Amino acid sequence: MIRIAIDGPGGAGKSTIAKLVGDKLGLEYIDTGAMYRAVGLKLNRKGIKPDDLISISNVLEETTIDFVNGKIILDGDDVSDIIRTQEISKFASIYSQIPEVRSKLVDIQRRIAAGKSVIMDGRDIGTNVLTDAELKVFLTADSMVRARRRYEELRSKGVNANLDDIHEEIKERDYQDMNRKLNPLVQAEDAIRLDTSDMTIDEVVNTIVAMAARVSCN
Ligand code: DC
Repeated sequence: MIRIAIDGPGGAGKSTIAKLVGDKLGLEYIDTGAMYRAVGLKLNRKGIKPDDLISISNVLEETTIDFVNGKIILDGDDVSDIIRTQEISKFASIYSQIPEVRSKLVDIQRRIAAGKSVIMDGRDIGTNVLTDAELKVFLTADSMVRARRRYEELRSKGVNANLDDIHEEIKERDYQDMNRKLNPLVQAEDAIRLDTSDMTIDEVVNTIVAMAARVSCN
């Protein structure tokens, strides 16, 4: 059994890389950011403010989140596509600071990963969710490189975007994710740091697959 934890800032390519590594190694892929995005979507749709902890707890109690065939299912609906906007990125980052939200999602994440081989990506996987993961990778890239990747992605979809605005948003989200009180984004002591600024997707995937092979041999 191997559990791989991939952590790092937004836009470092974690989801793309984790999915490809998962496919190559036959591991179930769990995108924890998608779970925070789904909760952000629901709380925002209901107009619940981040300081209204009672309403947040009530909503969480009646919320179900699952992964089915790689899709994220919120209360029975596939929300995989609508959670990918810049707006939902902001809500996810804000609501992910709330202890009630984190504890509910961390419980679900540990339950999904229990007793099987998985690759899970997020911000606190190696430091909190799967502290005894066999392999921990901290995937990062220069903030301007991350902004440019996001900009190209939006442009390729025909979406109008401004590179400087995206860069500012990325830096703001980094700040929020790294400075929140509970389980901030930080590299685990036993994680291997991989800066992907000058690497292709294939190079990153092959590097992590090689790391996993070394772990499996030990
Ligand atoms: O990886 P992402 O951009 O989809 O994550 C969206 C937000 O969710 C991110 O700003 C921080 C939060 N998040 C978190 O706090 N802990 C995780 N394990 C994953 C994501």
